[in-house]
Amino acid sequence: MSAPPDLPDVVARAFAVSRRAGYVSFCRNETGRLLATLAATRSGTMAEFGTGCGVGTAWLRSGVRDDATRIVTAELDPRLAGAASEIFVDDGQVEVLAADWSTLLDKGPFSLLFLDSGEPTEVGVDAVADLVEAGGIVVLDDFTPCEVWPPISYGRVDTLREQWLTDPRFTTVEVMVASDASTLIATRR
Ligand SMILES: C[S@@+](CC[C@H](N)C(=O)[O-])C[C@H]1O[C@@H](n2cnc3c(N)ncnc32)[C@H](O)[C@@H]1O
Repeated sequence: MSAPPDLPDVVARAFAVSRRAGYVSFCRNETGRLLATLAATRSGTMAEFGTGCGVGTAWLRSGVRDDATRIVTAELDPRLAGAASEIFVDDGQVEVLAADWSTLLDKGPFSLLFLDSGEPTEVGVDAVADLVEAGGIVVLDDFTPCEVWPPISYGRVDTLREQWLTDPRFTTVEVMVASDASTLIATRR
């Protein structure tokens, strides 16, 4: 089966790897396009916490504009990290680590950080603020759009979203990528 024509090749390869691995927890295409667009504004080193099978990484890679920009991504599950590595086996600009995201702490500062390990309490603002260079961007996805303040999710105050939207170290916006999905984009001051 050929890949949809609107997908970058590297993303189509990542979907093929995900399918073979039976993995479905990848970012949605709307978020992927946002990642690619933001990556196209970046240089230096970008990072991702939680590679999965490499779909988000591939979207980031599709936006990279030059040969010097790098992406490092960490995945706790070695089987998934191994699968994601296949996508980038011939690509010296992407490094997939089978490791906890904390392994990346000494690889910054990052020009973009995609927080997608699904551990909101652990990966709060304090944990990552100093990993991001001035003007660097943090992206968090998988929020449900909310028009009230403070933001409510599943009947409770969404303290993670509240924290990111109010932290003085970042200028942060919540952007709807679909009618049922929003993403936080935070720029380090
Ligand atoms: C939502 S999935 C990632 C999807 C991927 N970023 C994408 O866009 O396609 C979350 C992944 O984070 C991984 N993960 C969970 N805790 C982690 C940790 N402490 N360090 C690294 N990866 C972790 C999980 O194994 C899972 O594969």
